[in-house]
Amino acid sequence: MKLWAGRLSGSLDPVVAQLNASLPFDRRLARQDVRGSIAWARALARAGVLTPAEADEIVSGLEEIGREFESGQFVFVESDEDIHTAVERRLTERIGPLAGKLHTGRSRNDQVATDFRLWVLEAVDQADARLRALQAALIARAEKDWSVVLPGYTHLQRAQPILLSHWWLAHFWAFQRDRERLHDLGRRSRVMPLGSGALAGTAFAIDRAALARDLGFDSPSPNSLDAVSDRDFAAEFLFCATLIGLHLSRLAEALILYATAEFGFVELDEAYSTGSSLMPQKKNPDPLELVRAKSGKLIGLLSGLLAMLKALPSAYDKDLQEDKPPVFEAADTLELVLPVMTGAIATLKVYTDRMRAAVDAQMLATDLADYLVERGVPFREAHRAVGQAVSRAEALGVALPQLPLAEYQAIQPAFGPDLFQVFEPDRALQRRAATGGTAPQAVREQLDLAKAAIRSR
Ligand code: ARG
Repeated sequence: MKLWAGRLSGSLDPVVAQLNASLPFDRRLARQDVRGSIAWARALARAGVLTPAEADEIVSGLEEIGREFESGQFVFVESDEDIHTAVERRLTERIGPLAGKLHTGRSRNDQVATDFRLWVLEAVDQADARLRALQAALIARAEKDWSVVLPGYTHLQRAQPILLSHWWLAHFWAFQRDRERLHDLGRRSRVMPLGSGALAGTAFAIDRAALARDLGFDSPSPNSLDAVSDRDFAAEFLFCATLIGLHLSRLAEALILYATAEFGFVELDEAYSTGSSLMPQKKNPDPLELVRAKSGKLIGLLSGLLAMLKALPSAYDKDLQEDKPPVFEAADTLELVLPVMTGAIATLKVYTDRMRAAVDAQMLATDLADYLVERGVPFREAHRAVGQAVSRAEALGVALPQLPLAEYQAIQPAFGPDLFQVFEPDRALQRRAATGGTAPQAVREQLDLAKAAIRSR
């Protein structure tokens, strides 16, 4: 029997029933729905709507249903339109007409908004834990690969030497911001819609502050219209997931590039590589490519939800039922891609010799200009002089360290015989000791900050 059978006696066109049903996806809210209903039954008892005995009977019925879900014993039936109707139907089977009192003063509108928030808050914690594991892997790499030097790139052109640990930690901080964002969204979303009714509030004397505490929310929502239609928490969750995906994708892209024969900097473990059905020699980075691809999907899920929300008029509209699939899919995606990236990084083989060999003397051109600056030459002039030295070396077909001193001095008399000390990559690293730089000492300090960050939040 439909919930609205009193008003509409005809039956739905089957294809409309199919469109209308959300059970195929919102069954994932089962645990939250039972939990919310138990709290609501208690609140109704406190308000004097249910006797204590009635509330107890409803609550134990709901607890049984909760156990049915947990053990996989719960059986859905054809007429279950969504998770809320399924739970109520089952409660009626278990305790009879008393079940009909549970929905007093409540609407599926405030019910689903509450269930969904509870679900997202749990997903936030789960994503946080996965991110933390990834960050731990990045820190472990930064420690393991300590003192490995590789070229830093801008525009994918060799730029300046950096420590590999510095490179790993660069990615650490992006994921730290992701965790901070999730935390922030969690804090903002612990506002409880239950007790807002369909749109105008509940007409029974519900102590919403106590109800909020029961369900682990910080406070009851201050406006019933807003509460039943607010899906900011879902949009924010998708945005957080999208940005996590994007950070993973950029890291994946770099590793894919570094794993090419042309770079040869890293090699993926076999557990994180696949072969080709045709070419026997291939070792492909499919897992990382899929991590990269999933970030595109996340962007789509976010865009889809925003487009669905943007023109909704006041309070609840059925469009809002479509808020769940993208959020579920995004959470599932994170559950896949975060552990894959964590494992790929932890097991990655690093070819330190190839990395160091790729640091050529030209990458120290900035340091050569700085050398002149230390001798009183204005930086702009020093920059030009070194640029000329690079061209001159190129014309003579030699590397910068092989260009004779006389050639340097012909370009800029401030060059002295000690200029050749500049062509030592470790010296270039040491010089970048200001906070946030790639000098070993600065990276040490950064590592301490990273460890503290992962511990605290
Ligand atoms: N299945 C619905 C959803 O997920 C529940 C709310 C239905 N409310 C209504 N007024 N039809 O949004």
